[in-house]
Amino acid sequence: MPDNLVLIGFSGTGKSAVARSLSARLGWPLVDTDQAIVERFGKSIATVFRDDGEAVFRAAEREIVAKACAGRRQVISLGGGASVDLRSRALIKQGNFVVRLDASPETMLRRMRSSPGAEERPMLAGEEPLARIRRLLAERGEAYAIADIVVDTEGRTVEQVATAVIEALEQRGNWRQGNRERRCE
Ligand code: S3P
Repeated sequence: MPDNLVLIGFSGTGKSAVARSLSARLGWPLVDTDQAIVERFGKSIATVFRDDGEAVFRAAEREIVAKACAGRRQVISLGGGASVDLRSRALIKQGNFVVRLDASPETMLRRMRSSPGAEERPMLAGEEPLARIRRLLAERGEAYAIADIVVDTEGRTVEQVATAVIEALEQRGNWRQGNRERRCE
């Protein structure tokens, strides 16, 4: 099995909820980078962006990603912008099974709006939110392309998405095992 299971993707694709389910089902500890930042600063992400600025947030996120990727057999849920950073991206790709969760921009926005703290989400601030989501998705093409698989979350429950991820993880584990066996013959 790969060392860590890493969930990437834009806000509103269900990373945190799916990661909690995966952690419980696999019995692997959960690392949620956004949650780690909230604990480190003792305030919400929106407040970190407002008081300290995005650069301070991104530096903390980079450190937390590096620390998480040094561990193994964990479910790691990354903030939507974490794989934009090139150093983080390289670490995430190293020996981990990377899953991108996806949905339509409309669904992402609907889910973001119905989640707690929606009104203060930094990624919803400023320009028209749907246009902003589309622009960021286009800009982040390479950051999200590192995924080993993409799982569509549209119209699916958290448990259905978690099941799809576990099936893919098992197949990946078997594939690695198969490769090893073939090399020994
Ligand atoms: C961000 C996504 C957020 C959070 C921060 C920045 C982004 O995480 O890390 O607001 O740059 O897309 P979620 O993807 O968990 O919402």
